[in-house]
Amino acid sequence: MSRFYVTTPLYYVNDKPHIGHAYTTIAADVIARWHRLKGDDVHFLTGTDEHGQKVYEAAEKRGMTPKQHADDMVQPFQNLWERLGITNDDFIRTTEERHTTVVQAVLVMLYERGDIYAADYEGWYSTSAERFWTEKDLVDGKCPDTGQPVHWLKERNYFFKMGKYADQLRQWIVDHPDFLRPDSRRAEIEGYLRKDVGDLCISRPKTRLPWGIAMPFDAEYVTYVWFDALLNYITAAGYHPDPAKNTMDRWPATYQIIGKDILATHAVYWSTMLFALGLPPAQCLYAHGWWTVEGQKMSKSLGNVVDPNLLIDAYGREPVRYFLLKQIPFGGDGNFAHDDFMGRFNADLANDYGNLGHRSLSMIGKWCGGVVPALDEPTERDNALTALAQRTLAEYTEQLEALQFSVAFETLWGLVRAGNKYVDSEEPWRLNREGNTARLGGVMRRALEICRIAAVLTSPIMPEKSVEMLEKLGLPEIRFANLDSLDGLIAGATLTLGEPLFPRMQKLPDSILAARKAAEDAAPAKPKKKKKKKKVVEPIDIADFAKIQLKVGLVVSAEAHPDAERLLVLKVNIGEPKLRQIVAGIASRYTTEDLVGKTVIVVANLKPAELRGVMSEGMLLAAGGREVVGLASIPEGATPGMTVR
Ligand code: MSP
Repeated sequence: MSRFYVTTPLYYVNDKPHIGHAYTTIAADVIARWHRLKGDDVHFLTGTDEHGQKVYEAAEKRGMTPKQHADDMVQPFQNLWERLGITNDDFIRTTEERHTTVVQAVLVMLYERGDIYAADYEGWYSTSAERFWTEKDLVDGKCPDTGQPVHWLKERNYFFKMGKYADQLRQWIVDHPDFLRPDSRRAEIEGYLRKDVGDLCISRPKTRLPWGIAMPFDAEYVTYVWFDALLNYITAAGYHPDPAKNTMDRWPATYQIIGKDILATHAVYWSTMLFALGLPPAQCLYAHGWWTVEGQKMSKSLGNVVDPNLLIDAYGREPVRYFLLKQIPFGGDGNFAHDDFMGRFNADLANDYGNLGHRSLSMIGKWCGGVVPALDEPTERDNALTALAQRTLAEYTEQLEALQFSVAFETLWGLVRAGNKYVDSEEPWRLNREGNTARLGGVMRRALEICRIAAVLTSPIMPEKSVEMLEKLGLPEIRFANLDSLDGLIAGATLTLGEPLFPRMQKLPDSILAARKAAEDAAPAKPKKKKKKKKVVEPIDIADFAKIQLKVGLVVSAEAHPDAERLLVLKVNIGEPKLRQIVAGIASRYTTEDLVGKTVIVVANLKPAELRGVMSEGMLLAAGGREVVGLASIPEGATPGMTVR
């Protein structure tokens, strides 16, 4: 029996949960259920992050104390997890004493050891954004977030010696290629670590933020929310810096699942904190992508935040769990659209899986007495089906355990579709007409066996539907056995036809249509575009054009811009000894993964300019305006540095 420990991030209680939160938690639940099914000793932790500026502000807005607010806001999370069938073994709130006391003990230990020190911090402080900025962050001398004035502030704070552990982390990443997943995230962190890693400010003066875990060695300060919250993964597991009080036997976690926006805090802050405590990082830190909704970023101001409760009410929790993990590869970004939901529900669940069960059960009801038929002597086609089942189990296991949920389901559906094809080509209706009962029974039995395998293998994602399917097949419970053979049912057991497992959806439920309309109505009216004066484009001389130096470039790396969602920061080889850093406004069209290895056209002699604090040494040619349609392409065989004309 192996030990398996999986965690989700701790969700801020500043607002209600949405599908983004549900997504991470469902993924963790599926992998936890899978390992339990296999008989592993599983521990699954989730919880809420209850300190920090965001929570403090949300409480203030409601006229409550932060603790009252947190006590209230933790409920929608816990209720949602229950409604979604989440099987977490523990739920930690960062305001709990079991957490706060250990965080303080850690702070004391690191302070006494010199890994935490006090120092003055100076910088441009924006009262409106409540944070410091560096000179180059400012836009026209003002706060880049709020546009409000900033003032120079010198503040004493406590710092964690993060930089001291940077080399250890660099080496760890080299030695543990499976630590940061998927690969694109590892590349992102490797890029981050190429720069100097400074120390981390881990305190906030109470005069600025009174809500947080008190700094044990200075009553004027509270702990920075991230330093506090990250420690939950071990405080919940029984960690204490005093060996006499330490009961932790679950670390390192097998999987820590997070969203891509909190990769650096986990991969860099958290890992170096662990090193300071003499602990290793998790075996795997997996950062998934983000959901947009009906093509737009999900945001309160757009009124398009999807409440998972609405989806559960309209579609049922299990199809929702399936859809979220099937629709996009785990690691990439994706879009949530109700029409896609209906399409996938009907194709995968109603047509493929549900129908294989329903049609087989109804044929057996009519022609084989409604009991599990006996197997007959296998033909070549039967053996091929068994071989496919064996391959499916092996591949499904490997893919699911690598958190490649959508790929694993696709693998399994390959078997389900093969089951449907098998029934079609064996023509049970013909066998029945011909009175070939032995073969008819054998064929139908194999079709049912595929339903059994599919039911067991999908049980981590749709547990109740699996039980329902297995009950129809005369099996009392989900058992992880005989999944590589088409001989796991009990011959002679009574079958139940009942209702189809997933009745086809004819149209979107009314509640969804109403919610969709409400979101459209609530969306802020798009500002009317001012009629632009038509620009008269003056013709230029060939000599003017010749001034522009266009070159073939090869994108070597791509990272998100630290401060602007629309922008990506690329390193491009244009045949010069040094790579060019180019900031491009193409994030709405390309992911960082899409770009690495792509050949592009670079305007090579553009004056360097700073774009939101990052230097850009060139420009890429692309079609479209602010919304990029695509990068200009280059024929095969062109090499970096070649002139384009
Ligand atoms: N409190 C911190 C995490 C501390 S962990 C010690 C936090 N909380 S959060 O509530 O803002 O976000 C939690 C998770 O939700 C993150 O993993 C984030 O990526 C995820 N999502 C938030 N919006 C999302 C989408 N639109 N799509 C997918 N996941 C998204 O960060």
